[in-house]
Parts: sequence; C-alpha cells; structure tokens
Amino acid sequence: MHIIHTIAEMRSWRKQAKRVALVPTMGNLHEGHLSLVRTAKAYADSVVVSIFVNRIQFGAGEDFDKYPRTLEQDAEKLKAAGADAVFAPDESELYPNGVQSYFVEPPAIQNELCGRSRPGHFRGVATIVTKLFNIVQPDVACFGKKDYQQLAVIKGMVQDLNMNVEIIPVEIERAQTGLALSSRNGYLSAQEQVQAAQLFAQLQNIADAIKLGNTNFSALENSAATYLQQNGWQVDYIEIRQAQMLAKAQISDKNLVILAAAILGTTRLIDNIEVNLSH
Ligand code: PAF
Repeated sequence: MHIIHTIAEMRSWRKQAKRVALVPTMGNLHEGHLSLVRTAKAYADSVVVSIFVNRIQFGAGEDFDKYPRTLEQDAEKLKAAGADAVFAPDESELYPNGVQSYFVEPPAIQNELCGRSRPGHFRGVATIVTKLFNIVQPDVACFGKKDYQQLAVIKGMVQDLNMNVEIIPVEIERAQTGLALSSRNGYLSAQEQVQAAQLFAQLQNIADAIKLGNTNFSALENSAATYLQQNGWQVDYIEIRQAQMLAKAQISDKNLVILAAAILGTTRLIDNIEVNLSH
C-alpha cells in the first residue's frame, strides 16, 4: 500500500491506476470507514483513502485541534482492509497560502439541520471534496450514510457541477447497542457510550410509528426530543425529511429520513434512519 503525502505524487500514482475509487476521510478510522473501503473495492481496480483533517469545515470552538490524528494506526487498518493507497497531505499541501480563497457554495440546505449550528461547515466539506476530486480524479467515491446531509450536499454538487464521479452511498455501521460508529464516539465516557444508544432508539421509535401510519410528524419529533432532554441530552434537532433532497416531509411522501443531532456530555452525535413506505 502506497502512502502518499504530496499532490504531485498522488497525480503520478493516478496515471498508472485504472478505475479508481476514493474514500475521503479525516482519519481516526473505525469499522465504518473500513466498510467504505470494502464497498469501494467492489467498484474499482484501486482504492485510495484520503486522510485529512480539514480545518475549513470546523467552526470556531469545534474540535479541530483535538480531532485525533492517528496516521500510523489508520495505515495499518487500511492495509489490512486492502486499500491500495493512502493520500495524507499536510495542510501546507492543500492550503499552500494558509487560506482558501475560492469555495464551493452549497444551496440553502447548507444552513438547515446540522448547518444551523455549524455555519460554513458544508461549504468547507464541498470545497475540500472538490479539491480531492480534482487531485485524485476518481471514477467513484464512497460516502457513509451516517453523514446523511453531507451525502445529500455532495450528490447535489456532483450533479449540478457535472462532476465526472459516481457517488456511492454506504450503509451505517452500528455497535451492538445500535450506536452509529463515529470517530467522535471516542470522546464519550464508558457510561455515555451505553447511554448514547438512546439516540438511535428514539429514531427507531419514530420510524416504527410512521410505518404504523402515524403522520403527526411534529408530535413524533417533539416526543423524541423531550425524551432525550429528560435523559440529559441537549437536542440540536430531530426532524423527519424527504430522503432525496432533505426538503420538509409531507404526509404523502414515501421516502423519508429521520435525522437527529444531539449533545451528550460534551460530545455532539448525529444519526439518522431511512423509512421507505413504498413497499
Ligand atoms: O466525512 C468526513 O470525514 C469529512 O467531512 C470529509 C468528507 C472527509 C471531508 O473532509
């Protein structure tokens, strides 16, 4: 497995590769990332995993500085998972002037859901993903459904800007408790790890109720939020949306997604569950 640190090396590696899949990550890899790699292998001859903690998608007071940088362990895991190359550039390689002057600006959805409390986050994500696509020139790129809004923003960007990359959505990996795997789970205490499963349990309750015909979406959202608040969570949002473009859900919609973000202790967790009523 090649470990590549510069754009020039990455481009020269790309020239000799055939069909390439990219798995963009910020490192601190867990089983969720490795499932992206396994999926990617089915779509291409070679898999490149990028590892870059992208400053411009973190807001003031977010965890950019404390975000774990674990390149050595990550490389071991990726080698075992069968990745062909790791692209792990320094900041000076991707942001040589220290700042980014040109950005990819997503539409209004960037200010909803997670975007309400993370202004500029999706602009930072869309910009770095575009830079990675320009450098790696992948045929396909895999993104986890755990970051559902991120996936929607990237799918929209690729479509709207005619980018020649196929986006492959990959299912969420969960712990036995139901907790969605995330690099940020490492911030949770042992007790919080157990309690964190309440978030998915509430999403499941809403999904079950919708499948049984309950269309009072706001009551479902409110009762899940109240339960979490009573159990010590600070709820950012719990919302039922249309699965495709994340517009507000209507009673007649068949493809829904229930999305949530909530803070347990000092850790902000996100999760979601899709509900398909068409069969
Ligand atoms: O999902 C992530 O880890 C990041 O947002 C991404 C897509 C690698 C961009 O920095």
